[in-house]
Formats: sequence, C-alpha cells, structure tokens
Amino acid sequence: MDCMVIQGGRRLAGEVRISGAKNTALPILASTLLSKGTCALLNMPDVRDVLTMSKVLTHLGAGIEVHGDRYTVTLAGVASCQAPYELVKTMRASVLVLGPLLARWGEAIVALPGGCAIGARPINLHLAALEKMGAEIHIEHGNVHACIRGRLKGARIYFDVPTVTGTENVMMAACLAEGTTVLENAAREPEVSDLASFLIKRGARVSGVGTDVITIDGVPELHGADHEIVPDRVETGTYLIAGAITGGEVRVVRCRPDHCDALLAKLQEAGVALKVEKEAIQVRANGQPRAVDVKTLPYPGFPTDMQAQMMALMALARGSSVITETVFESRFLHVLELQRMGADIRIEGNHAVVTGVGRLSGAPVMASDLRASACLILAGLAAEGETRVSRVYHLDRGYERLDAKLTGLGAQVRREAERV
Ligand code: UD1
Repeated sequence: MDCMVIQGGRRLAGEVRISGAKNTALPILASTLLSKGTCALLNMPDVRDVLTMSKVLTHLGAGIEVHGDRYTVTLAGVASCQAPYELVKTMRASVLVLGPLLARWGEAIVALPGGCAIGARPINLHLAALEKMGAEIHIEHGNVHACIRGRLKGARIYFDVPTVTGTENVMMAACLAEGTTVLENAAREPEVSDLASFLIKRGARVSGVGTDVITIDGVPELHGADHEIVPDRVETGTYLIAGAITGGEVRVVRCRPDHCDALLAKLQEAGVALKVEKEAIQVRANGQPRAVDVKTLPYPGFPTDMQAQMMALMALARGSSVITETVFESRFLHVLELQRMGADIRIEGNHAVVTGVGRLSGAPVMASDLRASACLILAGLAAEGETRVSRVYHLDRGYERLDAKLTGLGAQVRREAERV
C-alpha cells in the first residue's frame, strides 16, 4: 500500500491538463454491452475504477485494446451475464452493467454492492425502475438476479431522488425497450448527458437530456460508435482549489468551465480571482479566502464530490462557514483528519461549522474515500511541514497521476510504500 508524502507550504504555479471524466467513462464502458460491434473511446482516464470496469467487461466477454487514452471495445456476444463480487466489491459503479446486460442479453447477475464509507448507498431505485419495465428481480446469495423474457417494456419512472447511476442504468436499458420510457426527476449531471450523446450516436432515441425529464423511445438495436469522454469536472475543481489554497496561480486546461458553475461561483464569493475561458480556467489566490457557506445538491447545485476539497479551503479561510451535505449521509470522515492538522471544525448533523484558522500543520492522516483523500492532499499542500496521507489507493481510483500533475505545478509530493 502506498502513501503520499507532502512537504507543504509551496506556492503552486503553472498549467495542468485535465483528464477524461471517470464518472462518464464508467457508464460509457458499461453501455458497450448494449450492442455487438466496436466502439472507440477517446480521452479515457488512466484511473483504477476504469481498469476495474474494463476487467468486469472482459469477464463478461468484451475484447478491449488500450493505446494511451484510447480504448477500443469489441463485443461479439457475452460469455457470461454475471459480474463477480470480487470486482463489484471494489467499485460500486459495477452496478452499471445491470441495465445493459438485462436489456440486450435478457439476464444479469450483479453482486449487490454493500455500504461504503460515505453512507448506505442503496440501489433500490435502479431495481424498482427495471421491475416496472417488466424485469423479474430477485436478490439471492448477495447477488441481484434480473431477467426478462423478450424485451423490456417502456414505462413512466419517477425517481424519489435524482440518482446519477440510477438514471444512467435505466436510460441505457430503455434504449432497447419496446415503446417509450419517461424518466422523471432524472439526474441532470453532465456525465448523464455525455452518456446520452454516446447512446444517440449509436442509434438510440433520447430527448430531454440535461433536464429532469428524459424520454427514451426504444429501438430494436444499437450499433458501435466513436466518442471522446468529457473532461472531469471534479479533477478540474480539485486543481482550482490546489491553486487557491497554496496562494498560487494555476491554469487548468482542457476542461469544461460550463460544468463547474456552482464551484466557480463559490470560489469567486470567497474572493479567489478566476479568469474563465472556453476550455481553460486560471485561478489566482487573492490573500486569505473569505469563508462562504456551501450546500451540496444534485447538479447544477454544488457537487458532493467537491465538498471535502472545499472544506480544506474553508479550514484556512477568514471567518466561519457552514458546509451542509445533503446528498450522502456520512460524508464527513475527512473532518477528524483535518482536525489532526489543526482545523477548527464542528459537526452538527449534516452540517460542518468550519472556523478558519491562520495555519494548518502537517501530520500523518488517513484517507477514507476518494474525495476525502483529495481534501487531505490539498490540506497537506497548504500545511506547514510534512503531511503523510496513507491509503492513497482511494486516490488512484479517480485521479490520474495526481502526484505527477502536482509536481508539475511545483508541489513537493512523493509516493512511498507505506510503513507498517
Ligand atoms: C454518483 C457518482 C458519485 C457522486 C454521486 C452524487 C458515479 C460513478 N458516481 O454516485 O461520484 O458522489 O453520483 O453526485 O457516477 N439513492 C437511493 N436509492 C438508489 C440510488 C441512490 O436512495 O437506488 C440515494 C443515495 O443514497 C444518495 C442519492 O440517492 O443519497 C444520490 O446518489 P446517486 O446519485 O445514486 O449516487 P451514485 O450514482 O452512486
């Protein structure tokens, strides 16, 4: 197991290039199960979750060739309809193969993902929707077993909460259903829209993308297509905060500023100077940031995946801020670690009251999940002395070459085998 060792206090400067979005790459890979043929996927991020999804697909029968950030996925037929527990337990998003397997191949057996560090994370809404479309679903031996005779049937589905992977799973399945499916209170995240545009290229009939009502007219079959994955908005946000928290000046390139509106508004409110171009954002720290309140919400609200990183910035702000987490119930595990670095944070239910301090001090800390790890790295970059973030395998799930990209900006970061 590796850890990341950071010598804090260096002002970051320079340019960093954003990789493709992990949360788009995963459903897009899963969707290749919807048809025979070949899909060429460009700008694929080199992160562990994408490797895990590739292993799931290979197990199911897909052939995958990787050349740099280009994946060529060829499917002649499926060898198995079962996604194994060993892979699913390391990545909840494996559940994204459920809809495509069921819709195209009539059966899917997917290990039920358990809880995770940030909360219970059920998949009841995915299952209820597929049942409404005619699937028979049983939970047996820890697996979801779904099957259908003939085709799924179009249906009107109302999601109690806008679920991102739920919307994606059901949208993929509905592409091959008989008749029309209407998804109400659907997720509006850019990752859902990017998946939809890939499906449309392959012959799917999807409308209302980017709104909370998505309509899918089922077609008998889809074909292969090429697609370039949209840039990662969470990686973008993480580097913007890296610039701001170190008092630096960083230009983030090959990104989609229009997908980061909520974060950009909050950074501006905090007094951080931003110059926004079509595909780049320049961030310049403007003295100590001001405290601002933040509430996570489904897109276009402030992303829960940026909450921990924003908290690192607020830990060093002037004044007190209230950070409210409304998407996941226990996504404050980074707080205890930030406190070890000298942050002044109090938790009250789903609110964190953060009172900015003048300085953080480096400490050994432990990462609990992907975005919490990013938060600790950011805090370490700004802290005095050495910070040692253990369990960085969480980071490798979603950030491509984070240590190399930070080093390119002048950070003193190195990866080491963990001392036991
Ligand atoms: C996706 C993202 C994750 C992000 C999250 C919220 C991927 C691979 N992951 O996760 O990075 O943090 O969106 O933006 O895209 N819920 C239910 N029942 C369900 C499904 C969800 O109650 O069947 C609840 C969840 O517990 C949570 C809320 O809905 O409170 C939103 O979760 P959801 O959007 O489904 O998250 P994921 O798709 O798992």
